Amino acid sequence: MERVYIHLNQILTLKSAHIKDGRRLTSDDLDVIHDGAVVVKEDRILWVGRSSDLPLEFKQIQSINLTGHVLAPEIVDSHTHLVFGGDRSNEYADRLNGTTYEEIARRGGGILFTMGETQKLSADDLFEQAKAKITTITTYGVGTIEIKSGYGLSYEKEKELTLVIDRLKKHFAPKIKIFNTYLAAHDVPRSFTTSRQYLDEVVIPLLKELAPLKVIDAVDIFHEKNYFTDQDTQQLFQLARDLGIPRKIHADELNTNNGAEIASHFGALSADHLLKISDEGIKQLAASSTVATLLPGTAFFLGKPLAPARKMLDQGVKVALASDFNPGSCHCDNLLLIASISAAQLKLNQAELWSAITLNASHALGLKDQGAIIPGMKARFTLFKADSLSQITYHWGKNLAVSLP
Ligand code: NIG
Ligand code: FE
Repeated sequence: MERVYIHLNQILTLKSAHIKDGRRLTSDDLDVIHDGAVVVKEDRILWVGRSSDLPLEFKQIQSINLTGHVLAPEIVDSHTHLVFGGDRSNEYADRLNGTTYEEIARRGGGILFTMGETQKLSADDLFEQAKAKITTITTYGVGTIEIKSGYGLSYEKEKELTLVIDRLKKHFAPKIKIFNTYLAAHDVPRSFTTSRQYLDEVVIPLLKELAPLKVIDAVDIFHEKNYFTDQDTQQLFQLARDLGIPRKIHADELNTNNGAEIASHFGALSADHLLKISDEGIKQLAASSTVATLLPGTAFFLGKPLAPARKMLDQGVKVALASDFNPGSCHCDNLLLIASISAAQLKLNQAELWSAITLNASHALGLKDQGAIIPGMKARFTLFKADSLSQITYHWGKNLAVSLP
């Protein structure tokens, strides 16, 4: 049975952004339809256009009038770490008083502190706490959410986290789509002497155990000085490739370390952070299918300069924005707020801004059938109570998202 939504003040289709694969977008690539209508059948878009052009066959169906609303492709948060225990507000205060993120990590705080807090919680507690966080995020209009494991950091606890994310995925499907990323290589617990040893004893064997269960949508690694090396990353990516599992990477965040280059080489879905990406890294990403996922909320929260977004965009890199919601480096769950604040800082035009949180963010999860409102694509939308698209980001920090009737 078809559903017909009519008289939307605006529909953001991103049609040409889709044709251009989310790269080199000008403000004309927004493709906004005024007084628009959309027809949906099951989970697919059947027709989209001006309300006055609605084909006769759909006029006979009882339509839903959405005057006073704007329809956009669904917002996708393609990078979160939302399954965790505890709180790190004390570290935030320490950072304001001059201690760096790296110093806090060296003294056993940071990810390792959250590991301790996470290990105190049962699988049921972790599920319930994450469920509440996801429910809040959906009220901002986010419909697809990537969630990383990575605060268990032992064989059993990482396994539990991956299975908790799988339980969340099943709980929220099909309305909310959850993407399960295996980030056991997030930090090296003190009980291991080297990252190599932890990789060999936990990350690799657990991946081999979990892969046949088909619960992992991608692997990720914190490729960073004092965390995981080039060699660790290559070994993990090689195995993931052999197992047919897509790759993602935390790259070039605190240091320039060829993370973008490794990502392009292994055909990763995305390279994330990139505050310190090299010129060569930009060149290689531009020539690859790998999405550059920028996490400006993290740079804000750590007081670091933002990634060189304009330089990447001008060279043809496909750029997405995500929240990085986590207890340490970015305790903000609201991607649209982050995008609204950072667009002017990153010098994004409006098409780049909206593609970054819809179309390109979907590509960062390998989802090529959503992120634009065109016939044949998945009917995954975000609806706003607003007169125009510009009002949505203009009202930064005010939530205008509403659920689709
Ligand atoms: O993406 N760097 C790795 N992961 C997070 C930080 C996690 C934490 O500080 O707890 C990030 O910034
Ligand atoms: Fe992260």
